[in-house]
Amino acid sequence: MNCIYKDSSAPIEARIQDLLSRMTLQEKIGQMTQIERSVATPSAIKDLCVGSILSVGGSGPFENAKSSDWAAMVDSFQKAALESRLGIPLLYGIDAVHGNNNVYGATIFPHNIGLGATRDVDLIRRIGAATALEVRASGIHYTFAPCVAVCRDPRWGRSYESFGEDPEIVKMMTSMISGLQGQPPQGHPSGYPFLAARQHVVACAKHFVGDGGTRNGINEGDTISSYDELEKIHMAPYLDCISQGVCTIMASYSSWNGTKLHNSHFLLTEILKDKLGFKGIIISDSEGLDRLSNPHGSNYQQSVLSAISAGIDMVMVPFRFELFLKDLMHLVESGKVPMTRIDDAVERILRVKFVSGLFEHPLSDGSLLATVNCELHKKLAREAVRKSLVLLKNGKDPKRPFLPLDRSAKRILVVGRHADDLGYQCGGWTMTWEGKGGRITTGTTILDAIREVVDGKTEVIYEQNPSASTLAGKDCSFAIVVVGEGPYVEFGGDSTELKIHFNGAELINVVADKFPTLAILISGRPLALEQQLLDKMEGLVAAWLPGSEGGGVVDVIFGDHDFQGRLPVTWFKNVEQLPMHAEDNSYDPLFPIGFGLTSKNEILKG
Ligand code: GLC
Repeated sequence: MNCIYKDSSAPIEARIQDLLSRMTLQEKIGQMTQIERSVATPSAIKDLCVGSILSVGGSGPFENAKSSDWAAMVDSFQKAALESRLGIPLLYGIDAVHGNNNVYGATIFPHNIGLGATRDVDLIRRIGAATALEVRASGIHYTFAPCVAVCRDPRWGRSYESFGEDPEIVKMMTSMISGLQGQPPQGHPSGYPFLAARQHVVACAKHFVGDGGTRNGINEGDTISSYDELEKIHMAPYLDCISQGVCTIMASYSSWNGTKLHNSHFLLTEILKDKLGFKGIIISDSEGLDRLSNPHGSNYQQSVLSAISAGIDMVMVPFRFELFLKDLMHLVESGKVPMTRIDDAVERILRVKFVSGLFEHPLSDGSLLATVNCELHKKLAREAVRKSLVLLKNGKDPKRPFLPLDRSAKRILVVGRHADDLGYQCGGWTMTWEGKGGRITTGTTILDAIREVVDGKTEVIYEQNPSASTLAGKDCSFAIVVVGEGPYVEFGGDSTELKIHFNGAELINVVADKFPTLAILISGRPLALEQQLLDKMEGLVAAWLPGSEGGGVVDVIFGDHDFQGRLPVTWFKNVEQLPMHAEDNSYDPLFPIGFGLTSKNEILKG
């Protein structure tokens, strides 16, 4: 048919209106629906016209599936969509939040808290571009990233997904969006979604707004603040996202002064759409509408009404999508949801599908498979790791720096499970939702990298969990103790104690009693450190969650590169101080935000 919407040379707004005019109500509300791949039947796609599919954390074609396996799966869903009456292509979304982290063999970059420590805008953009290539190589068009939360309390289980506690740092790091989506052309009207070419993906700034500011850092909790504070701290990064043409913004599970974001017409429509001029898709979080309902869900239809009326355009309803479709159909037919609201949502969805080139290029491009975990991407990830590490202590006597370490030392003792556990150094959102220990994908552990970097005659001994007695009689030039947190995600990471897991503090204690010791913390946030423990170690490095390229750690501790990372968050003395920020009168941290040393013990300046 010579429909305007199929004409790639026609203006996008004309294509939108032409297609919208041809759509039935079923097709319109189908486009507003995003379902999980495990329930995505051909009939759901072709007959119910579901417009988007997602993989929840770890949900793929099969265990350890590679990019080509994923591409085959996504393409099969897409072919079903292209067979529907109007042939509107699917948008397939996934949480590629530190590389294409669900896919076996993908490059895994440091989590956002480590990237925030780099303060390197161009590096983050390059990581976005590399991630986009690997995501498209797996046939996927859309990532629920970047998280632009401003994390104001490290007790929050999602601290590591935030670039830092200072909105200025988070604003800088939104360059991830230009990397993922491509740079908007000169004169691009801000607020209008934009996408460059097939090597890019639709991005998602999340979670709007105030997800990182909840009371006591409780996940999905309540951010209690004035509007000015909400705007100054938590909303600020969204202006940078919109000016880069971010195509989608995800609503937060959390509340603002007791009102859930998912049904806040004021924040979603009056502020984000009307005042800030956002023209893309507001997508709900997973089962975000269910979170509005009462425990037995008897008022789910009311939740649908309030969320859609508030301004949600696409609903991430992974499993109960038939109920959602039925309820929304009823709400429109009964006039409770006006067609104008539906048309606004569908226009936004079609706008993103047109600007992302989905109509012209709906299927995967096999030539991109060569980019997956390529040398360039591994090098980039290794650069990110070394730029993210923060040197917090270097020598009991600052005049005698302990680092860089001697790679030709006679014998080096390496201690701690985190020294040789790829899953631990990647953290949550890696291969599975919550992450897990072991060789979960390809990559280099810190121990692998130490063994590679030392001179031939140097002996490297590894003891995962030694006791004082097993260390008795052992001799070594120095010890490297790598401890920290095990992987966690969302609620699973909320913590009131912020202790080093698996008795890591005791391990440092035992080793540092005997040998000059460098402690490396693998964690998603600052952890509680006793002063006497800090006094015992010769050196302390915050390595955050570095991802698959552990080599970046040895690049700096053995001196091939100097440290340049600076804390993106406050390092507290004890959890009783929390929440604590630089602007507080009683600011008394162990290490202040922005702190970082060079290997010559110079204090890095911003
Ligand atoms: C999760 C998270 C969100 C993620 C979504 C899809 O619950 O809150 O960040 O993008 O569901 O996995």
